[in-house]
Amino acid sequence: MNAIITGGGGDIGSACARLLAFSGGNVLVVDAELEAAEQVVREINERAEGRAIATAADVSIAADVQRYVAQAATWGPVDVIVHAAGIAGPAAPLHEFDEAEFDRVMAVNARGTFLGLKYALPFVRDGGAIVNIASVSGIAGYPSAGASPDDTAATRTNSAGCSAPRLSCGAARRFSATPAWRRSWRARNCCWPAAGPVSRGSGGAL
Ligand SMILES: NC(=O)c1ccc[n+]([C@@H]2O[C@H](COP(=O)([O-])OP(=O)(O)OC[C@H]3O[C@@H](n4cnc5c(N)ncnc54)[C@H](O)[C@@H]3O)[C@@H](O)[C@H]2O)c1
Repeated sequence: MNAIITGGGGDIGSACARLLAFSGGNVLVVDAELEAAEQVVREINERAEGRAIATAADVSIAADVQRYVAQAATWGPVDVIVHAAGIAGPAAPLHEFDEAEFDRVMAVNARGTFLGLKYALPFVRDGGAIVNIASVSGIAGYPSAGASPDDTAATRTNSAGCSAPRLSCGAARRFSATPAWRRSWRARNCCWPAAGPVSRGSGGAL
């Protein structure tokens, strides 16, 4: 079983990488932060020698995506892809949300997922699985989330549910996972204060 995990140096991606490697798979751990990816690979290979490889790539850059896909394809057809690379923008109401921040977040969270699908689908084995990590915020709205990254997760949901079939990707199974918030992630990415999401008059911490 051959797997690609983007954002494999992060919380969700590294958990997926460990699980797949310890289940006997070959795992390509892709991350913009090579050191984070290498740390995960070291942990995996201590228990599952040779099962994991780290590679640095920016998922928003097509050439990087083509390169990591080609690297994984040397193992043979790809069985599993997890798109977990993502960034958080600032928490702000929509009308105050900075355009440059919006573009930055979209480049990674939406374009990165699109490029991952576009360039990897021809290498995915029939019956393979593609998991796009989205967010509960792509389903439910939060007042201070504005155009924050998790709203772009709606795009990731769409990329799994709508775009891929139009790309005639064969029999690959596509999923969109929508995690709720984990405090460690929010704290690190500075999207929400440690106490939980800010709400202006409604909503509140999950
Ligand atoms: N953990 C949560 O509570 C939670 C909740 C909702 C949604 N999500 C979504 O799940 C995804 C993963 O969350 P996480 O908790 O693992 O985050 P994380 O910050 O721990 O990991 C994200 C990883 O993506 C990498 N990355 C960022 N930009 C990249 C790029 N351009 N190219 C390649 N790699 C890049 C980072 O280096 C990092 O290792 C996020 O995109 C987030 O939207 C997470």
